[in-house]
Amino acid sequence: MHPASRIIIALDFENLATAMHLVKQLGDSAKFYKVGLQLLTAEGPSVVQALISAGKQVFLDLKLFEIPNSVAGAVRAAGQLGVSMVTVHAMAGSTVLRAAVEAARPFPHLKILGLTVISSMREADLYEVGVKVSIAEQGIRLAQLATAAACQGIVASPQEVALLRRILPTELLLVTPGIQLPGHLKNDQARICTPEQALDAGASHLVIGRSISHSENPAATFSAICEQLVVASRQKKSSLLLQTQT
Ligand code: C5P
Repeated sequence: MHPASRIIIALDFENLATAMHLVKQLGDSAKFYKVGLQLLTAEGPSVVQALISAGKQVFLDLKLFEIPNSVAGAVRAAGQLGVSMVTVHAMAGSTVLRAAVEAARPFPHLKILGLTVISSMREADLYEVGVKVSIAEQGIRLAQLATAAACQGIVASPQEVALLRRILPTELLLVTPGIQLPGHLKNDQARICTPEQALDAGASHLVIGRSISHSENPAATFSAICEQLVVASRQKKSSLLLQTQT
């Protein structure tokens, strides 16, 4: 898969006009966009329709946590809009996850992603809601729950990706936010990494927001990330080849 298809650009904006301005700036090479609660609440489904009409794929980050019937209804609505990915909190349990997967069945392009532990949570936050295990343990438990419920993918922080990739099926999509560009890494944020590190760890898709949208030249930033990932993947292939030859 070309790196441009693995990068999902987060449209965390107040309105459709600002979001579509970025889409226009990024042009044809950017193919996948994430619409979250802010933009969806402000603009409704028109934002998804505008993206689909522009030939883009849409990750609708609904973070569903509801009774199975309501989750299924939301998933069907997303499928009818032509969305490619929808998130459901894995914490909602396997009955809810299965209801989402079942509701997505008539829409072959639609993947259900189980959300593991949201990246703002720390161990103390888990403890507060009665979960007395580490973030990593909880991440593994929820990822396995989502896989067993036949979700096509999961969302996990970069910190957990390498471990999860080792224990989960290879075909499972692993979508990772918390990406920072090299040179912009903030040492105090533990659950972040660069695009190259995230793909190396086994992520299938990267969600990148402000590093692109708030940069001086979003199109140049986006193509620099893609170029860097292409170079990194070539280097990895040739070093693997060397290893097999020696
Ligand atoms: O930080 P950035 O602007 O790249 O965030 C893009 C998206 O990634 C956000 O919409 C948010 O849902 C998600 N995110 C996350 N955890 C972080 C940072 C961002 O889940 N630590």
